[in-house]
Amino acid sequence: MALITFSRIVIVCVVAVALQLIFSSSPYPIYLENPPPSSLLPAPPSNSKLQDVIKLGEGLLKQPEDVAVDKNGVLYTVTRDGSVQRLHRNGTWENWWQTHSPSLLGITTTAAGDLIVCDANQGLLKVSEEGVKVISSHVDSAKIRFADDVIESSDGTLYFSDASSKFGFDSWTLDLLETEPNGRLLKYDPSTNTTSLVLHSLAFANGVALSANQDYLVVCETWKYRCLKYWLEGDKKGETEIFVDRLPARPDNINLAPDGSFWIALLESTPVWPRFVYKLAAFKYLARAFPKMFSNWVIKIVDKSMVVNVGSDGKIIRGFDDPTGKVMKFVTSAVEFEGHLYFGSLYNDFVGKLPLPLSST
Ligand SMILES: *[C@@H]1O[C@H](CO)[C@@H](O)[C@H](O)[C@H]1NC(C)=O
Ligand SMILES: *[C@@H]1O[C@H](CO)[C@@H](O)[C@H](O)[C@H]1NC(C)=O
Repeated sequence: MALITFSRIVIVCVVAVALQLIFSSSPYPIYLENPPPSSLLPAPPSNSKLQDVIKLGEGLLKQPEDVAVDKNGVLYTVTRDGSVQRLHRNGTWENWWQTHSPSLLGITTTAAGDLIVCDANQGLLKVSEEGVKVISSHVDSAKIRFADDVIESSDGTLYFSDASSKFGFDSWTLDLLETEPNGRLLKYDPSTNTTSLVLHSLAFANGVALSANQDYLVVCETWKYRCLKYWLEGDKKGETEIFVDRLPARPDNINLAPDGSFWIALLESTPVWPRFVYKLAAFKYLARAFPKMFSNWVIKIVDKSMVVNVGSDGKIIRGFDDPTGKVMKFVTSAVEFEGHLYFGSLYNDFVGKLPLPLSST
């Protein structure tokens, strides 16, 4: 294996050098990958707890990126083959609706009993017993290209992230190669059926969560290893500040825990080649020419998984990981419900379930 990997790297390097010579005046304005901040917060000690998960719906669920549980304890997820699936209390999976969309991402349940789904390509979908319908697809007359995660506030407003206004889901890794923050936080007001801009210039706007009393909202900026706090109430209403900075890896989805803290899934990878590779024009050209292949490759190399529990003060309390990705790879969300954590992933074919509290850490 190691030898094959090594020879592959050698071949890629040789090809890259050759293409570098050809494309060194590449017309594409692709910049450097965002470098991580100079010092990251220490990761909680590795405990491999994500290797102990119970696998729910194994084989049924293709890349279940996000998980949500409604007040009756029904667990929902959406999968890469476009289905909206739910697990009833009695342990039965139901393939609830088929959307035929390859780009379903973050979900949330609503007070009215519906499920709201971010379809990166189409916008916000409302899923109910009546069926599936698009409720928000444009902002300021422009198409939303990368709806990513959503939360409903108590007044019915849906806050959601648009990871990148420049690149779509199939080429999300190209956003990583740029230093431009193309992400936004949007809101959909059901009373007026309008979508408006809340925050712009976010470095890949990803997970969105509301605080326990809904006085602020947290939105994660994946490429900047941080999550921002946006005040919805009080003296600082409308202001933005840092909620947690210098996370040990790049944050994906964030979810409020019953005790008022948050669970954040972090995307980690073992660097497979040195940083100078990112500076090669040929590398950028190849990534640009084959974005889907490049994105799939990145999904394969994000091998470790980690989720952290962050207090409302922005401090890391504890974390669980799979240091080798043996059982859970590319974990993208962690949801706490009735003493258990549920994990979504862009790689696995099941939802992971882990009992809390756990003795270690
Ligand atoms: C489980 O619950 C669902 C929803 O109430 C129901 O449709 C299904 O028939 C039940 N399955 C079993 C095996 O009881
Ligand atoms: C909401 O607005 C969109 C256009 O932004 C429109 O397509 C849709 O029909 C409207 N829905 C309702 C219920 O008015």
